[in-house]
Amino acid sequence: MRLGILGSGSGSNMQAILDAIDAGTLDAEIVLVLSDRPDAYILERARERGIATGLIDCRGFRTKFPDEAQAETAKALQQAGVDLICLAGFLRLVKQPLLEAFPNRILNIHPALLPAFPGLDAWVQALEAGVSETGCTVHYVDAGMDTGPAILQAKVPVLPDDTPESLHARIQEQEHRIYPEAIRLVQESLSTAS
Ligand code: GAR
Repeated sequence: MRLGILGSGSGSNMQAILDAIDAGTLDAEIVLVLSDRPDAYILERARERGIATGLIDCRGFRTKFPDEAQAETAKALQQAGVDLICLAGFLRLVKQPLLEAFPNRILNIHPALLPAFPGLDAWVQALEAGVSETGCTVHYVDAGMDTGPAILQAKVPVLPDDTPESLHARIQEQEHRIYPEAIRLVQESLSTAS
């Protein structure tokens, strides 16, 4: 299975996917890593591994993912022969035409137990809401914000002395465990379907 990764940040989830591939527990290859931020560490990690990288030109928009950029992204991923797209800390909303180019083949990792706390900084939202438990979700991407069907979730307790950083770090440990596992489940369901 050929994976394309989209990320805006440090790329620790991409690293967890690479680690699973190296350990032989995930039969896949990351063939292209795209970012909307030229300085994102995910690009550096990919280059160090000899993985092809590219920049998504969002035409100067700070948060929007303009249609032309979505079309260019879809084209680059198709040209690289990508089977499955994994959003790994990608902070823009995926829409058409990228969605229709990869139907049911785009996954996202979100740092909360969806449908609770969609959107940005979900661990801060959880702390501010005073919940005793949060977690993370791998889900299929649809046209909504963090609304697609869930594939796997993991729970994480919120501790009395948690800071945003300590809670996010504990959630990320679980993200790194469930993302490769969710990709395996999707791979199985695709091979059963074909
Ligand atoms: C992860 O915690 C991921 O869940 C979150 O960004 C972080 C990226 O970390 N994504 C979102 O908040 C999406 N709404 P990473 O770059 O180290 O993988």
